[in-house]
Amino acid sequence: NNPVDYQAEDATVVQGAVESNHAGFTGSGFVNYDNVAGSSVEWTVNVPAAGTYDVVVRYANGTAADRPLDFSVNGSIGASGVGFGGTGAWPNWTTRTVKMTLAAGTNKIKAVATTANGGPNVDKITV
Ligand code: GCU
Repeated sequence: NNPVDYQAEDATVVQGAVESNHAGFTGSGFVNYDNVAGSSVEWTVNVPAAGTYDVVVRYANGTAADRPLDFSVNGSIGASGVGFGGTGAWPNWTTRTVKMTLAAGTNKIKAVATTANGGPNVDKITV
């Protein structure tokens, strides 16, 4: 399957803001999670067949502290406590690949911050 980009700024953002003040993002910006546990971004993604997929998260974390995210897929746990460690500076973007089991058709992938620091800045996911 061809990878498809799903921009964070086009997703449903709960306790976060779409911003564009750190260079290097794709699309029109990125999501700055609020610095609070429970802040989240939820994407709607489409795949042709059920199976295990690589979900590539493009992110930046300009701090030294890990900013883990819990991922759910259609309301069930997809991947827990995935680490998003420091990238050196906010304009330094990198990717982390998370394997998730998706259903054929539409899936809701939600990435929830688990610490008081909130999530990293997230540019997009690629599935
Ligand atoms: C800074 C940075 C933001 C980032 C925030 C954070 O304010 O400019 O892009 O999201 O720190 O710590 O979450």
